[in-house]
Amino acid sequence: MWTQVKELFSSLGVDCNILELDQVDEGASVQEVLSEITNQRTVPSIFVNKVHVGGCDHTFQAHQSGLLQQLLQQDPAYDYDLIVIGGGSGGLSCAQEAAVLGKKVMLLDFVVPSPRGASWGLGGTCVNVGCIPKKLMHQAALLGQALTDSRKFGWEYSQQVKHSWATMTEAIQSHIGSLSWGHRLALREKAVTYVNSYGEFVEHHKVKATNEKGQEAFYTAAKFVIATGERPRYLGIQGDKEYCITSDDLLSLPCCPGATLVVGASCVALECAGFLAGLGLEVTVMVRSVLLRGFDRDMAERVGASMQQLGVRFLRKFVPVQVQQLEKGLPGRLKVVAKSTEGTETVEGIYNTVLLAVGRDSCTKKLGLEKIGVNISEKTGKILVNDEEQTSVPYVYAVGDVLEGKPRLTPVAVQAGKLLARRLFGGRSEKCDYVNVPTVVFTPLEYGCCGYSEEKASEVYQAENLNVYHTLFWPLEWTVACRDSNTCYAKIICNKLENDRVVGFHVLAPNAGEITQGFATAMKCGLTKQLLGDTIGIHPTCGEVFTTLEITKASGLDITQKGC
Ligand SMILES: Cc1cc2nc3c(=O)[nH]c(=O)nc-3n(C[C@H](O)[C@H](O)[C@H](O)COP(=O)(O)OP(=O)(O)OC[C@H]3O[C@@H](n4cnc5c(N)ncnc54)[C@H](O)[C@@H]3O)c2cc1C
Ligand SMILES: NC(=O)c1ccc[n+]([C@@H]2O[C@H](COP(=O)([O-])OP(=O)(O)OC[C@H]3O[C@@H](n4cnc5c(N)ncnc54)[C@H](OP(=O)(O)O)[C@@H]3O)[C@@H](O)[C@H]2O)c1
Repeated sequence: MWTQVKELFSSLGVDCNILELDQVDEGASVQEVLSEITNQRTVPSIFVNKVHVGGCDHTFQAHQSGLLQQLLQQDPAYDYDLIVIGGGSGGLSCAQEAAVLGKKVMLLDFVVPSPRGASWGLGGTCVNVGCIPKKLMHQAALLGQALTDSRKFGWEYSQQVKHSWATMTEAIQSHIGSLSWGHRLALREKAVTYVNSYGEFVEHHKVKATNEKGQEAFYTAAKFVIATGERPRYLGIQGDKEYCITSDDLLSLPCCPGATLVVGASCVALECAGFLAGLGLEVTVMVRSVLLRGFDRDMAERVGASMQQLGVRFLRKFVPVQVQQLEKGLPGRLKVVAKSTEGTETVEGIYNTVLLAVGRDSCTKKLGLEKIGVNISEKTGKILVNDEEQTSVPYVYAVGDVLEGKPRLTPVAVQAGKLLARRLFGGRSEKCDYVNVPTVVFTPLEYGCCGYSEEKASEVYQAENLNVYHTLFWPLEWTVACRDSNTCYAKIICNKLENDRVVGFHVLAPNAGEITQGFATAMKCGLTKQLLGDTIGIHPTCGEVFTTLEITKASGLDITQKGC
């Protein structure tokens, strides 16, 4: 096989440089470093213009697909056509798409451990400390609720049911490990050079990559994409970094956090509070101002009320000022002093764990952006880009959570990264459409939405031009289980001036994520109230409620449902 590869290169008129590891001093350590970089333990290990192609089979496959010829024609002025900094949702998607388009690509990814020492592998926030572990913990909590319901459906069991945090975390971490490994393999298959190092611009077209051991290497590229995401913010109060945790720690915490204070009231805070309560823990949420800032007010309050029904306690209009350790241990005991945001009142509370979910800071400060002139927002530290994700430095682009004013969601980062690579290297022109991005808050009762909140729609179209249709509804599954008949809620906001086009879609229901996805596509196609009415529902589901909405909010008619 190896001879055939040599013949292949010779037929292409390419000189090969062959290093026989058993013939050189320190061959074993070279082999070790090689397999660390490439994940390939066998020989030959073939590189073309510094890109690892793989073994013999991979080289022949690359020849057949045309990739080999493209790699042989790279611009020698730079080491790479593209260097992507950040191996999360946006960076991985961009790097892989650029490589598929035949470009020579390097991806740098490095996780700075959290102050409590949590660290993880390739894949970024979503895979390791975001969407994936969060949704799985949400599922663990939902299963608990299903157990309670099951008795009403005839399941009989006498033994007490307990939840094991350790078993759950171990299983989730094992799944995450396989996802992260899958990303490494995908990069290798697409001949993206992955380096587990921290990237930082040192001069135009050049980055320094520093690995865990502090070893530095320098690489140049014609183009760069920054996809470094965000990390949890701390409060800067006494005891926060020493004793509090963030979502970076919680989602792989080895022991059950016990009675938990969650500080913050947005997605991360409410989702974590929700699954912790669902797992049977005592949970308090400390809210500085409002729940779910930026979301529909009415919906946000309904989310809060549904969590309260589950036993979550809300401490509104308070902020912590001091965290003190009372007892060491896993989880230990902490005293929190908080002060009112409206007066001089202070309160104290004792918790096993304090989870800070007070927002996230973009990872832009230590990237050397000032050295090459990439503009960031002074207020937020986020990167400013035009509608093609191009920064103030023409050869530097950015995607994902580091962008100023864009939705901070995995599918947004993935789509933006992929389309950017296609525009840069594939002759395409499609830009990422940041309008009508659907989203779901995975609180115990999920909240899905797409388009405008009532407040924003009133601002854009004027309240008098809107029809808001709504109803409370009782999922069939909840009837036998005797769950509350007036918690689930559906609402659409329609613009009268555009034939009642749906400009806002909101649902608070089990599986709201699954419901919202399809309606988001319909909204992209110009969904109107009439079209919803013309659509035949699927019975008996929660989603069908949108095909029968008749009561407007303005009418003030009763929308309550009869229950147990
Ligand atoms: C708790 C939580 C739950 C979430 N749940 C959802 C959800 O359900 N659905 C959803 O759509 N979104 C969710 N999100 C948001 C989603 O995770 C992010 O929008 C998404 O991960 C952003 O992708 P990104 O590529 O911009 O950044 P990231 O995924 O954060 O990746 C950035 C990567 O770059 C690395 N990096 C940073 N600086 C450097 C450097 N200088 N050199 C090298 N590497 C560097 C980081 O370590 C990281 O690996 C959640 C977020 C959190 C925190
Ligand atoms: N399901 C999902 O899709 C999902 C889930 C999780 C996260 N995400 C994404 O991740 C992004 C980040 O979410 P996030 O929840 O971390 O942050 P966020 O949306 O920025 O919310 C920060 C929260 O912390 C509060 N806060 C800020 N500073 C505080 C302080 N000093 N003291 C007390 N409270 C303080 C804020 O209150 P105020 O309102 O008073 O400012 C707000 O409730 C979101 O935009 C979302 O797109 C998505």
